[in-house]
Amino acid sequence: MPNILLDVDTGIDDALALVYLLANPEVEIVGITCTAGNVEAAQVARNNLALLELCGRAGIEVAVGAEVPLQIPLQTTEETHGPQGIGYAELPPARQQISDRHGVRAWVEEVRRRPGEITGLITGPLTNFALAVKLDPELPRLLKGLVIMGGAFNYPGNTTPTAEWNISVDPHAAKVVFDAYQGLPEDLLPVVCALETTERIEMTPAHIRRLGELAGAGRPEIISPEDPSGLRSTSDNPLVACLSDAIRFYMEFHREYDQGFLAHMHDPFAATVAAGAASIGTRLATVDVETSSPLTIGTTVADFTGMWKKPPNAKIVSANDPSACFEEILTRVGSLARSLR
Ligand code: RIB
Ligand code: CA
Repeated sequence: MPNILLDVDTGIDDALALVYLLANPEVEIVGITCTAGNVEAAQVARNNLALLELCGRAGIEVAVGAEVPLQIPLQTTEETHGPQGIGYAELPPARQQISDRHGVRAWVEEVRRRPGEITGLITGPLTNFALAVKLDPELPRLLKGLVIMGGAFNYPGNTTPTAEWNISVDPHAAKVVFDAYQGLPEDLLPVVCALETTERIEMTPAHIRRLGELAGAGRPEIISPEDPSGLRSTSDNPLVACLSDAIRFYMEFHREYDQGFLAHMHDPFAATVAAGAASIGTRLATVDVETSSPLTIGTTVADFTGMWKKPPNAKIVSANDPSACFEEILTRVGSLARSLR
């Protein structure tokens, strides 16, 4: 049973990743730490608390961590994820409060409390984990494993021509993390889900319709490219309605940038990897991050053949199965939604 410590910048796809992990009975969520990224850190935390309540899972700790990157100014992206970070979805404020513990302390204390048992899953900028590693350099050896959604290897970026968002927001943190894994045993190295494989996870209106069916919703859940922008779901299932409203925003955003009326589900894919529910191939590599060039800052570079004479520090996902990924996510989330009717 994977025990997962989740570090997020919730965000629409982070939200689906969280709901999927909540829906997976084989997963224990040890805690959720929030970092600024898609939206400000406090809003990330509010989103996570509201999602926990919606899913009937209040009580899982939600801790706020870094409010800004290590060195460069924070950039957020409300245009991608909506003013609150969950698209058009509107959730009532949760009764549960944000944890008094700082997110970085939560990382160190939880991993120290359960050495060798916890898998980290990072679906936002790596600021919190970088700070935790600085605080406790043993952390990479004390984790059972680590899954990172981030980077793009020999593949176009989504934030600059060569850089992916999570790394772009805090390139210095990413470099701290990859450097910390230099020379560690292969089984401890982070599994990196980068754009070249996460952009294969293309959620379409047909997936949303299937989610409604699996949830036993009273009527088909239809998102159409012809709908007026911002149309809200009328589903009688609260979780279907929330996810439909969130993902519609994401699909409209992808269409605005000529990617089609679809939504790349980067973080949910990474969550299936952390849950041990994904069939993937990986390639051992030495990864480094550009942290100074104005032209390429945030760009991740992978040495697959030892040119740099440095030991590997990552296992980059090189193959995945999008349809199996959606089957896993939709059946789990559909079943949770059905239970909330
Ligand atoms: O580049 C995609 C990543 O950036 C995802 O984690 C998305 O939520 C944003 O954080
Ligand atoms: Ca994210």
